[in-house]
Amino acid sequence: MHVELSNVTKVYEDPPETVTALKDISFNVNEGEFLCIVGPSGCGKSTLLRMIAGLDRPSSGQIRFRGDPLTAPHSKISMVFQTFALLPWRTVIQNVEFGLEIQGRPKMERQEVAMDLLDMVGLRGSENLYPKQLSGGMKQRVGIARALAIDPEVVLMDEAFSAIDEFTAEALRAEVSDIHKKSRKTFLLVTHNLPEAIELADRILVLSARPARVKSIVGIDLDRPRASTDSEFITIHKDIFSLLQAELENSLMRHRLGELQEFKKLKDMEDR
Ligand SMILES: Nc1ncnc2c1ncn2[C@@H]1O[C@H](COP(=O)(O)OP(=O)(O)O)[C@@H](O)[C@H]1O
Ligand SMILES: [Mg+2]
Repeated sequence: MHVELSNVTKVYEDPPETVTALKDISFNVNEGEFLCIVGPSGCGKSTLLRMIAGLDRPSSGQIRFRGDPLTAPHSKISMVFQTFALLPWRTVIQNVEFGLEIQGRPKMERQEVAMDLLDMVGLRGSENLYPKQLSGGMKQRVGIARALAIDPEVVLMDEAFSAIDEFTAEALRAEVSDIHKKSRKTFLLVTHNLPEAIELADRILVLSARPARVKSIVGIDLDRPRASTDSEFITIHKDIFSLLQAELENSLMRHRLGELQEFKKLKDMEDR
């Protein structure tokens, strides 16, 4: 097993409030697998990914990477962010070299690795531009090249295609799918975009509304490339969509029930 989560719970103590973001999450990710994680907005998807990146710790439960407990960022796990998170004072190539620089790798090697990756993501010729000179799609290409530069075993992507226009996102998804196929690295993509998950995933993990629990894990056994117009694609979409819809209704219901209880408390106070 490449990545294992056992009973991971995350509680944010934000006095006077306590928010349980994740509750008893357990699942495994196989080596070379493309796992997509979908769930209602605010359910705890980013929290989950940040913990696997070692940027945050579970309140209880355990995350393991290659069998070892994961408690800090790991040199074989990298992340692609929704908002790119490029360093504005560094050029494209300097951004891609960043992780290798931290690892203390020699300049020649860094440049060679970075140029190869920039070539792969279609940015040769743009290596000396600064982030502010790039379109959203180009920025995310840099984000992807930077994540791959350290030759990770696991690539985490948090809504990586959500902040770019759909036309560019489509092209980038195809490229990422290609990179996955060639590299056989393990990919974990968090997304609220269900067709995107069905297009890319070997398996889709469906989370419930907050506090997120594992609602279902659905294997996607379709040939690639996948077309959202295929009847099988549409059937899978319909099935997972109804799971998510039920979750949304649950969370609305809980919300209303909560309000009702608050209302009753007020009423009781008034009656006293
Ligand atoms: N640092 C934090 N402190 C307090 N609450 C947080 C923090 N980060 C996230 N949360 C809360 O945890 C819940 C899940 O957030 P998040 O993981 O960003 O959800 P998602 O990515 O699924 O939209 C939300 O209610 C959010 O407000
Ligand atoms: Mg998020």
